[in-house]
Amino acid sequence: MPQYQIGHSPRLSGEARVSTAKNAVLPILAAALLTQEEIILHHIPTLTDVNNMLAILRSCGAEAESEGGDVRVRAVAAGSPEEMSLLRTMRASVLILGPLCARNGECVFTMPGGCAIGQRPIDLHIKGLRKLGAQVAQAGDAVRVTGTLKGANIYLDFPSVGATENLVMAAVLAQGVTRIENAAKEPEIVDLCRFLSAMGARIAGAGTGNIIVEGVPRLHGAEYTPIPDRIEAGTLACAAALTDGSVLLSGARMEHMRAVLFKLSESGVIVQEDARGIRLRGRARQPMEARTLSYPGFPTDMQAPLMAVATQTHGLSVFLETIFENRYMHVVELKRMGAQIRVEGQLALIQGGRPLNGAHVTATDLRAAAALMLAGLAAEGQTLLSDPAGHLMRGYDGLEEKLRALGADAMIIRQ
Ligand code: UD1
Repeated sequence: MPQYQIGHSPRLSGEARVSTAKNAVLPILAAALLTQEEIILHHIPTLTDVNNMLAILRSCGAEAESEGGDVRVRAVAAGSPEEMSLLRTMRASVLILGPLCARNGECVFTMPGGCAIGQRPIDLHIKGLRKLGAQVAQAGDAVRVTGTLKGANIYLDFPSVGATENLVMAAVLAQGVTRIENAAKEPEIVDLCRFLSAMGARIAGAGTGNIIVEGVPRLHGAEYTPIPDRIEAGTLACAAALTDGSVLLSGARMEHMRAVLFKLSESGVIVQEDARGIRLRGRARQPMEARTLSYPGFPTDMQAPLMAVATQTHGLSVFLETIFENRYMHVVELKRMGAQIRVEGQLALIQGGRPLNGAHVTATDLRAAAALMLAGLAAEGQTLLSDPAGHLMRGYDGLEEKLRALGADAMIIRQ
């Protein structure tokens, strides 16, 4: 079981290079199933989720290997995964559904796993595929989707990131034009669409709520570098804000992080963009209000890390989680460290300014794990963070190493 030890840390200073985005890499890897030709991806982070997705692609019959940050995938043939248990390792496994249906007119799979932050149904994915002409049969956890896909008008009841990605990937090889209304606008969706366009797909409107896909008969190979990880960058920005730091996040893109940087800046952190990335200076002092929303609103993935910061501001911060129904699991652990937080339904009230004390805490999900590591930087004494499910390694490429390089007292003590 991975365990981390974190001590009270001085002002973080220096430069951290932001990795490419997990949430861009995973759909792009799934999209590699759409062509028989070779896909080459650069600067791919070392994450369990990436390894799991590569294992899923292999289980679908593709060759997939990673070396020195480069990943090569070649799916000369691709079918439903042989090893269904792999799909339970993460939620993003559902992203093979669109590509396999588009390519073969069939996909048999099992309901995905992932962080226990909410129910996370896949009804919007299924409803959209049905609109495209697929038949869907479900027995328990097993789902079978069949049928030749044809372009259609789809309205998403909620701008789901995964459903938008799956439906775009399903539509790129479908006959005719598909319009997805109320589509998600996250930068990772724009990146997936750029990658698909590099493979020969015809897509307009990515990054807006109205995506139009004109089906093409086939896609070809491509070479691509995904966008930087705005959530990793945001997490490091929170670490700087907690420690009165002076940090350059090289490669980070301001335009992807406005909501988070506004919060930090309103709280007292100096945020500057330059040619190399984003510079942050100073401490978050003022309490904050944050309501999680779809992009470009405040991202739910940053709610827990920002809450760690809010515990150390002066006054009452108010957070509202509207995306996932069970995403305050870090609160119990933060309270173990002395934070004063009250949760009422979707609302969390954080009384800032209470000193945090090192404690033995447990990671309940990926972003909760990051929040606890950040809280450990501000706490007096030692914090022991147990991560029985290995969440941090699923989604951050060496977060503790990056923090340590900036001067933090954070290390992994058990793999
Ligand atoms: C993606 C991100 C995740 C982020 C989330 C919201 C990846 C790999 N993961 O997850 O880090 O926290 O976006 O920004 O990119 N929903 C339904 N029915 C569906 C699909 C979703 O009700 O068919 C609901 C979910 O339960 C949730 C909300 O919609 O309450 C948002 O989910 P969605 O946008 O689909 O998130 P993911 O794609 O799973």
